Amino acid sequence: VKLVTTHQLLAMKRRGEKISMLTAYDFSMATILDGAGIDVLLVGDSASNVMAGHETTLPITLDQMIYHAQSVVRAVKRALVVVDMPFGSYQGNSSEALRSAIRIMKESGGHAIKLEGGAEIKESITRILTAGIPVMGHLGLTPQSIYKFGTYTVRAKEEAEAQKLIEDAQLLQDLGCFALVLEKIPSTLAKQVAEKLSIPVIGIGAGPNVDGQVLVVHDMLGITKEFKPRFLRRYAELADLMHDAVTRYVQDVKSHDFPSAEEAY
Ligand code: KIV
Ligand code: NA
Repeated sequence: VKLVTTHQLLAMKRRGEKISMLTAYDFSMATILDGAGIDVLLVGDSASNVMAGHETTLPITLDQMIYHAQSVVRAVKRALVVVDMPFGSYQGNSSEALRSAIRIMKESGGHAIKLEGGAEIKESITRILTAGIPVMGHLGLTPQSIYKFGTYTVRAKEEAEAQKLIEDAQLLQDLGCFALVLEKIPSTLAKQVAEKLSIPVIGIGAGPNVDGQVLVVHDMLGITKEFKPRFLRRYAELADLMHDAVTRYVQDVKSHDFPSAEEAY
């Protein structure tokens, strides 16, 4: 199997082939997703919500992100593995940002990092890129800024915020980012950005006119039941399947049905 590289993602955009991306945080799940032909696996800081049960992405640490990334990297044979830089590991200054990015690359074996923001983190992005680490940008509803936004609703509906997003997207490309995630913004704006940029634009809640799509895997598999934003398509109802399976197991244990003679030594 051929490994997916950042260069291949660029080529995919040029030939109009859409890029498929999902999150992954552990070995077993990453094995399944990679085996199914996913192009990019994102070790998202959404692990803070999905894996650890926090309300926001803010509490997850760099050590915890590296642990998740190591587990995913061990599973992957083909996909490009992108690792989120967690809140607090890059916003302070560019030296700290570089140090955090190097730790992720060295200790996890991931192939690239992602961080949230535009002009504000320009210097950090430049230094990380200079060290030879590929960077994916992330604009729009950036969850690490949730306390600034105050709400998880659609971003950049106003002209001023849309204009800044367009400028930031161009800046990220000019700095040398290999791709960009746009989260929860109007389709028309995402389309405009994807057409303007030569690097791949990957959307989540950003409509169909972008170069690829990303979802949180637990959401699209229906493991997280409560989270039902409009942009989410559910491909399975795994929470129900798992609930039924565990219910039957409990019954079988209680009723002495499990284990049977054949299941014993
Ligand atoms: O952490 C995450 O899951 C993400 C994606 C939603 C883009 O950043
Ligand atoms: Na993230």
